[in-house]
Amino acid sequence: MLLHSSPRNEEFAQKFVEANECWNLEQLYKDITFAKQQEKQLYRKQLTPTEKACLRGLIRGYSPTEIAWELNREPNGLRVELSRGLYRYIESLTGARIKNWSNVSKELEKKGYKFHSIGTNVTANRRDVTCLVSTIENHVDWGEAIDVSIFYGRHSELTTLQHWVKQDKCRLVALLGMGGIGKTALSVKLAQLVQEEFDFVIWRSLRDAPTIEELLDTLIKFFLCQQETNLPETVGAKISRLIEYLRKARCLIVLDNFDAILSGGERAGNYRSGYEDYGVMLQRLSETAHQSCVVVTSREKPTEVAAYSGEFLPVRTLQLSGLNNEDAQGILAAKGLTGSVDEIEKLIECYGGNPLALKIAATSIFDLFDGNIADFIQEETTLFNGVRNLLDRQFERLSPLEEDVMYWTCINREPVPAAELQSDIVPTVSKGNILESLESLTWRSLIEKRRDAIHRVSTFTQQPVIMEYMTERLVTGATEEITTGKINLLNKYALIKPNSKDYIRQSQIRVIISPILGNLQSNLKSQSEIELKIKNNLDNLSDNFSNKPGYFSKNLINLLCINGQARMPAPQEL
Ligand SMILES: Nc1ncnc2c1ncn2[C@@H]1O[C@H](COP(=O)(O)OP(=O)(O)O)[C@@H](O)[C@H]1O
Ligand SMILES: [Mg+2]
Repeated sequence: MLLHSSPRNEEFAQKFVEANECWNLEQLYKDITFAKQQEKQLYRKQLTPTEKACLRGLIRGYSPTEIAWELNREPNGLRVELSRGLYRYIESLTGARIKNWSNVSKELEKKGYKFHSIGTNVTANRRDVTCLVSTIENHVDWGEAIDVSIFYGRHSELTTLQHWVKQDKCRLVALLGMGGIGKTALSVKLAQLVQEEFDFVIWRSLRDAPTIEELLDTLIKFFLCQQETNLPETVGAKISRLIEYLRKARCLIVLDNFDAILSGGERAGNYRSGYEDYGVMLQRLSETAHQSCVVVTSREKPTEVAAYSGEFLPVRTLQLSGLNNEDAQGILAAKGLTGSVDEIEKLIECYGGNPLALKIAATSIFDLFDGNIADFIQEETTLFNGVRNLLDRQFERLSPLEEDVMYWTCINREPVPAAELQSDIVPTVSKGNILESLESLTWRSLIEKRRDAIHRVSTFTQQPVIMEYMTERLVTGATEEITTGKINLLNKYALIKPNSKDYIRQSQIRVIISPILGNLQSNLKSQSEIELKIKNNLDNLSDNFSNKPGYFSKNLINLLCINGQARMPAPQEL
């Protein structure tokens, strides 16, 4: 009795309890206990809390390794214990040989211990999503996932990742690496390769830094197949609800650009203020038993991933390096770049096999050096500065309209159709000219084309590294213009776009307006001096812009408002 009331046993009694929903547990315990008593020839023996927990885990489709994690046991020890005990009792109960843990549920199901079942495969119980939604089997939502029909190499990475996801049943996998190295592409490829394993697959980018509530609501609604329901109110309850689904069905969630919600300061892996609950979510996803997998891609390692990952733990990290020589050559060849083996290898080495850098470099070589790699390498003395330097070079070469398209794509933050870019740009330009610019920028990998499946239009956006580069240009340029009173960018581009969706507006304030004010603060010291400076610009220059189309006064008013923490103008006033 003492044994059964210990805190540890009580804790075990809570593990894998969802087995109760689909299995006649009471009868199973009774019959297996009987088998145990026969086997041991001890008629007072009962099933231990550990045995019961293992039984529940096994019939829910958890492997012994996963069960060991959950019960805080050493996996090999538990495996031996199962082979000597529980498997033998089940054998004598079912009359079937239990060669592998996955036979357990199959054989017990045959004997009628399961209430209902759909499908006939070994993992039928995992796929029994009737507990969650009754009619839908394989649910997939790719969100804004990029097209990976052209994909080179990464064989060993994909083998490792598939093993972690399929065999080791990892709960959390982090793909880490610098911008442009191929994290997003790899995450999509992986999800495509393993999707058959899962009842639900959802791919989401955190690039626009959704709040944790928004993300959890999206996920919960997805698992409920968009049915109207009362969503839990607190973050904690939302996370619990999510985990409940991740237990009931096998789900794959990919969260791309996780670094968008990290602070990126000196202490890598910490959260931006207001986003700390993402850490709580990762912690709970790692600690709690469920049969699903969450993949995150990030430039920095989130602290929870660092704390919970390990070779024998259900949390793993894969640090991505560049493509190997042969695969990187594929990228260059697809761009039509040819050269001697030596030159090509040197180019790949210069960019560490970073596919994005190589794509941009390849077009630079065409644009600036008539396709001559040797000239490019020779001239590009600071080449080792990587993508940045390359982008400076590319930017210098853009036409004024291409510049406009680059700035506006950055300001829009999310993929937008050509028509939207056309309505942003002042003075008005023709759609044909915009499309021409977009084509040329896409070829140089400075803009990426997407397909908006709902509205059936092409949309355009930038890779995060490039968007960051453009944001920095805009912030630096705007700061300088306010300081010197020589206005150009500030009239051509809106720092906060009129009528933006709320989350985009927040994003524009955070990445554009606040850094400009931050820069001004370091030059001008106090908030009131900043205010004075902006007002002076407004007073002195308004006449110059009064009959020119543009965003000058709206931008300065927005800066004033946010600087003074004053009332933000309503969208119709902008
Ligand atoms: N293995 C690959 N084969 C072909 N193209 C790739 C590969 N990996 C990445 N790319 C391309 O390189 C660019 C950058 O990759 P991406 O996955 O977006 O990088 P990250 O997410 O790490 O910033 C994209 O245009 C992508 O399509
Ligand atoms: Mg990415």
